[in-house]
Amino acid sequence: MKLAVFASGSGSNFQSIVNAIHEGRLDASVEVLICDKPDAFVIERATKENIPYFAFQAKEYENKTAYERVIIEKLEEHGIDFIALAGYMRLIGPTLLERYPEKIVNIHPSLLPSFPGKDAIGQAFRAGVKVTGVTIHYVDAGMDTGPIIAQKAVDLEEDETEESIAAKIHEVEHAIYPETLQKIQANLSRV
Ligand code: GRF
Repeated sequence: MKLAVFASGSGSNFQSIVNAIHEGRLDASVEVLICDKPDAFVIERATKENIPYFAFQAKEYENKTAYERVIIEKLEEHGIDFIALAGYMRLIGPTLLERYPEKIVNIHPSLLPSFPGKDAIGQAFRAGVKVTGVTIHYVDAGMDTGPIIAQKAVDLEEDETEESIAAKIHEVEHAIYPETLQKIQANLSRV
């Protein structure tokens, strides 16, 4: 599986995927990073790993179709057949969805359909839920709405802070994303 990872931030999930590949837990390669924030830390991670990246700023393009066309050119240059969104803070538009149908997945830090959208961890904290978690789902045109592939619950104690919840969530994410990608890869290669 030739992966592209899309990210906008720190890239700890990007790193967990790369580490799983290095450690032989994920039979795939990350061929390119797509990043919409040219100063994001994930770019440093890609550089360190010798993974090529394409960084762009949406405001420099006329519209989403225009930059998604450029992204598709980059993906095709790298022979990408699967896309993992990992903290990519933009909705995927019809241009990319039509080019990679059922080949784009996302990780979200809540048990969807609870707490979609931004700041899912803060939303869970403020709601005072005692269980939250992580979801991996196929991407469709909505915000965190596509078919669910995997979920893992995280129990919350009485004295959690947003930071302590985030730490628990990230630990689960870093295990479940590579594991799930490996299951997807095993299913794809069975055909
Ligand atoms: C993760 O919590 C992911 O679930 C969400 O954005 C965050 C990205 O974190 N979509 P990182 O950049 O991978 O550290």
